Amino acid sequence: MKSRLFVAGNWKMNLDKNQALQLVREIEKNKEAFENVDVAIFPPFTLLSAVNDLLTGEVCHLGGQNCHDELVGAHTGEISASMLRDVGCDYVILGHSERRANQLETNEQVKKKVAIAAESNLTSIICVGETLDERNLGQALSVVEKQLIGSIPVDVDYNKLIVAYEPVGAIGTGKTATINDIAEIHAHIRIILSGLSLKGDNICILYGGSVKPVNAADIFQITDVGGALVGGASLLSRDFISILHAGAAIK
Ligand code: PGA
Repeated sequence: MKSRLFVAGNWKMNLDKNQALQLVREIEKNKEAFENVDVAIFPPFTLLSAVNDLLTGEVCHLGGQNCHDELVGAHTGEISASMLRDVGCDYVILGHSERRANQLETNEQVKKKVAIAAESNLTSIICVGETLDERNLGQALSVVEKQLIGSIPVDVDYNKLIVAYEPVGAIGTGKTATINDIAEIHAHIRIILSGLSLKGDNICILYGGSVKPVNAADIFQITDVGGALVGGASLLSRDFISILHAGAAIK
């Protein structure tokens, strides 16, 4: 039997305030249907407060899409983990491949952010995943292993960690990884996590990359898949709710 699934909606840099509030109202309206799934949404920073005001906190939780690796200071344009906590967040996405590629975030930086997030009582969703070129070169397992080991602080509270495997070629492309590839990498991630800590057996490992209503149920069935990190499909209430239904149906 699977433990309770976790589905995260990463809105990235999308939606205005009206669209955001409408989407949250739809999710909250349907919450009885998926109360055995843990749900979190990750709006842009400017919408966190307004979205938090609408959430009852019973089913759907709130998270930030990034945070700085220090708590306060002269860092123009940055947001700290404690600020996310202050505005109602329980989670933060760290090391997303878009940030690793566009902001050149390193494992070392992600590791510092994970540590500071845990200090602020936030659970980190640490993203790892190979590029298409790395996969074609047969390096997927080694790349993911290096990112994972490099991004987890040695003495972090493992109860404050979630891992998301997101192959870069599957993000926003509609080209979901195959069931075999997802199963292989998730099993490998589980072995690494279990090797790092006794609590590694229990860390939730999400899959992300073009998760849609049409493929969610099959992905959720895979051993060691503990849920999904959903981008594009989390912006449409019908699609996101349908993915949540698929998660709720998994036993
Ligand atoms: P996608 O994005 O579902 O649009 O592929 C996933 C992600 O980047 O977290």
